[in-house]
Amino acid sequence: MSLSDLHSELYETAHNARENASAIYSNFKVGAALRTKSGKIYFGSNIESSSFGLSICAERVALFTALSNGEREFDTIFILSNSEIPASPCGACRQLLYDYAPELNVIMSNLKKEIVIDNIKNLLKNPFSLSS
Ligand code: THU
Repeated sequence: MSLSDLHSELYETAHNARENASAIYSNFKVGAALRTKSGKIYFGSNIESSSFGLSICAERVALFTALSNGEREFDTIFILSNSEIPASPCGACRQLLYDYAPELNVIMSNLKKEIVIDNIKNLLKNPFSLSS
């Protein structure tokens, strides 16, 4: 599937965010663009630490930025990396995205502008939930 106009703004935002990734240990840069239900777009890039476990993924930076700005309703996250096949979010990000946006559309992409579309419920089978 190729990129439609609908997704090009998300691609550009994630691309710009990815340029600012601080992937100084892995050299694997990721950008994420998170769109709210009202259409506003927040972004994040991955940031790494010399204490590797302190590093944070692009998806969580985008989510935390949006939450810190008071947003609570999310529609789509667009994740961009330079992988051969569009990279899928890690387990920790899946849980957090599910916690705050259980109906989220997840679009994964790469620099060839290939996309894979899924949703968070499908990506996180049997999620942890306090209400279950
Ligand atoms: N990373 C992300 O930012 N998002 C993902 O979905 C997977 C991995 C980051 C974490 C780390 O900085 C680098 O990519 C390599 O794992």
